[in-house]
Amino acid sequence: MSFLSRISSITGPLIAVRHMAKVNNCRLFNYQDGVKRFPVPEDKVSWSVDWPEYQPVDHTHPAVLRGPVWADLDFRKVTPDTPPKYNELDGNVDRKSYSGTYEIVNGLPRNPIGRTGMCGRGLLGRWGPNHAVDPIVSRWKRGEDGAKTMMEGKPVLEFVAIMRNDTRDWAIPGGMIDPGDTVSRTLRKEFGEEAMNSLEATEEEKKEIEAHVNDLFKAGDEVYSGYVDDIRNTDNSWMETVAMNFHDETGSTFNKIKLKAGDDAGDVCWMEASSKLNLYASHLDFIETVVKQRNAAW
Ligand code: BGC
Repeated sequence: MSFLSRISSITGPLIAVRHMAKVNNCRLFNYQDGVKRFPVPEDKVSWSVDWPEYQPVDHTHPAVLRGPVWADLDFRKVTPDTPPKYNELDGNVDRKSYSGTYEIVNGLPRNPIGRTGMCGRGLLGRWGPNHAVDPIVSRWKRGEDGAKTMMEGKPVLEFVAIMRNDTRDWAIPGGMIDPGDTVSRTLRKEFGEEAMNSLEATEEEKKEIEAHVNDLFKAGDEVYSGYVDDIRNTDNSWMETVAMNFHDETGSTFNKIKLKAGDDAGDVCWMEASSKLNLYASHLDFIETVVKQRNAAW
């Protein structure tokens, strides 16, 4: 993935928030399918705290162990011809972390944020960082007369949200970067697939969707790049993302697009940005950053 393929901004750069490293979701006791983590109290999260009693549950989902294209081999059991190059671009798999150089302990990457109560890869494919992108497509909420809707003296922001089929949470329509793909291509692809159902469109519709998405994504601002407090994280595998904001100040471009849920999304809508929302993983933090930078109601 190319960190450098950032799209330039029409409105001036937003300040990227680099330290959004909470450790709440990745310590949730119930992982999935009845698998439970070893409970990790807050004061034992840091690897620098000595904790000889720590016995993380070793779990890697069978779907990951079956070896799909998006997953690594079980490097604890299989020695590949060429060993993985951690902290580097390894062939077309990006094993670099936004947090800097991560440690390799007993041959495996160590979660830079701390203990999670689980070792192995859980539901994640890659040892170390698993890279995703999150497109935040926004516009101002407007009344029928076209005037911006105001709340406590500030305009109300709307963004495109999808309902994830896996957790039923509302979320930004993000997704994983395929090996060899770039941030900017994946942003467009995920938005097209999840918010405009490009996968089930006819060839003609596909062209139309592509043109709209290219128009929408001409200019964006980086909101965040780094580690994500994701429920799937383990001591050896974790999520990282690049969140970008594509904002339509006048509404003239985004009003033309037809939203239709597809792929991993069960539903899609323009959602009002608000502190009261409950969103997947760190997505509310990303929305809050956009709201604050654009001086919108919260
Ligand atoms: C999601 C992204 C999310 C990332 C980290 C990915 O699976 O598609 O929206 O930010 O995980 O939680």
